[in-house]
Amino acid sequence: MLRTAIYPGSFDPVTNGHLDIIERGLTLFDGITVAILHNPAKKYLFTVEERIGMLEESLKKFSGVSIEAFDGLLVDYAVQKNAQAILRGMRAVSDFEYEFQMALMNRRLNRDVQTVFLMTGLRWIFTSSSIIKEAACFGGNINGMVPPVVQQKLKEKFKQ
Ligand code: COA
Repeated sequence: MLRTAIYPGSFDPVTNGHLDIIERGLTLFDGITVAILHNPAKKYLFTVEERIGMLEESLKKFSGVSIEAFDGLLVDYAVQKNAQAILRGMRAVSDFEYEFQMALMNRRLNRDVQTVFLMTGLRWIFTSSSIIKEAACFGGNINGMVPPVVQQKLKEKFKQ
């Protein structure tokens, strides 16, 4: 049986920290679907189409990865995709409470879908899409923190 996982998130935009989780996730799963889902608590800088485009470009080198967007409950999407697991990265203690709450709620909604956490690589422990956007917005150097396509798109976005 093929083991597949959904890696959900906002990816506004994708960062090298996300790519690290995907790369390591591929050693555990036969396939990963990177899914852009809606987090009602967030205001997005990039449209869903822009985020998909950046993910496609950044994930070209990986096989076994697909990219989609879904507007609905994460567990429903996992069932629709026949995925056994939800993959999430955990950066620091501060992530724990939010991730714990979400994992337990997802488990309550569907007991058959497991959440698997990977500890984020040390290099990415302090990064987030928001902090990278903030640095880029004020002209800060974000070299090596995001894929080149994202660096370019952020530059264009903040020039506008
Ligand atoms: N390295 C660096 N940064 C990382 C990271 C890593 N490995 N992993 C996560 N992050 C950052 C992201 O950049 C993001 O930063 P930001 O908050 O500044 O944008 C933050 O951690 C977490 O975001 P992300 O992983 O993109 O997830 P999210 O919290 O925005 O997404 C959803 C949450 C979309 C998965 C969730 O809202 C969802 O499932 N929505 C669908 C509806 C649903 O089913 N809700 C659940 C009911 S309980």
